[in-house]
Amino acid sequence: MTINRSETFFLCEFPILDSLENKTSLSEHEEQLLRRAERAEKALIQSEKLAAVGRLASSISHEINNPLEAVTNLLYLALNHEPLPPAARHYLETAQKELARVSQIATQSLRFHRQTMHPNRIDPAELIDSILGLYHGRFANSTIQVVCKYRSTRRVLCFENDIRQVLNNLIANAADAMRQGGRLMLSSHDGTDWKTGRSGVRITVADTGHGMSAEVKKRIFEAFYTTKEVHGTGLGLWIAHGIVARHHGSLTLKSSQKAGCNGTVFTLFLPDKQNPSKPAQ
Ligand SMILES: Nc1ncnc2c1ncn2[C@@H]1O[C@H](COP(=O)(O)OP(=O)(O)OP(=O)(O)O)[C@@H](O)[C@H]1O
Ligand SMILES: [Mg+2]
Repeated sequence: MTINRSETFFLCEFPILDSLENKTSLSEHEEQLLRRAERAEKALIQSEKLAAVGRLASSISHEINNPLEAVTNLLYLALNHEPLPPAARHYLETAQKELARVSQIATQSLRFHRQTMHPNRIDPAELIDSILGLYHGRFANSTIQVVCKYRSTRRVLCFENDIRQVLNNLIANAADAMRQGGRLMLSSHDGTDWKTGRSGVRITVADTGHGMSAEVKKRIFEAFYTTKEVHGTGLGLWIAHGIVARHHGSLTLKSSQKAGCNGTVFTLFLPDKQNPSKPAQ
């Protein structure tokens, strides 16, 4: 898959484009440049907004922790307050479980935004589960069935937040493709990249969604390419591609729209003996 490098080049050319805006008539090529500049500008504003929302989410998660801890302790005390009618015990235990979930979501959101400077070894199953935790509510209220098969024995050396971001986008895309319901299958197993002979871990995210046409498949790794109109920025897979390249891995896909075998499978391969390059700050 190739990334459209001209988009990156193009962002640096804003001053030239400013002068184009003052011209009374534009050639087709100039008009094309202007349209692309507008698109790039919109995407930049959007990503600024996303960054601000991310920072806000982190501080909310941080602030939530203190009252959460207080309520968790109060529930613990109430549960040990004998005698307790069975119904009250049941309610308190349910409250305790739900609260544990809130606490998990808060911790995950914090982890998501913390950028580390060094890669670390992590169990792929742990990575996938941490993302699934964020989707618990969405999947519980939908007709999407989630099936996980973790068979990998290796821990992968990676920038975990970056790989979380990749998996988060793959899972979000799969969910978006199954608005009418379906099956989301997540698996991890040890594998070898036959092209290079390197060993590592293969993580697959498969869905039984609407699949992609050949035309869409060709373009999904391009920056700003989306079929979701205002609901997508089209940056998810483009960013994922960059992250995977820095990890010396690969991200491949198979997709079909044929009725009965419709769906998409993304395979992420991460080698286990190669140091990933640092993320850009
Ligand atoms: N699992 C999938 N099933 C069907 N189509 C998919 C799937 N994953 C990706 N696509 C297609 O690839 C396009 C690009 O995906 P990408 O993640 O880069 O952007 P997006 O999801 O549209 O927007 P964003 O990720 O910024 O919210 C999507 O708009 C969609 O058309
Ligand atoms: Mg996406």
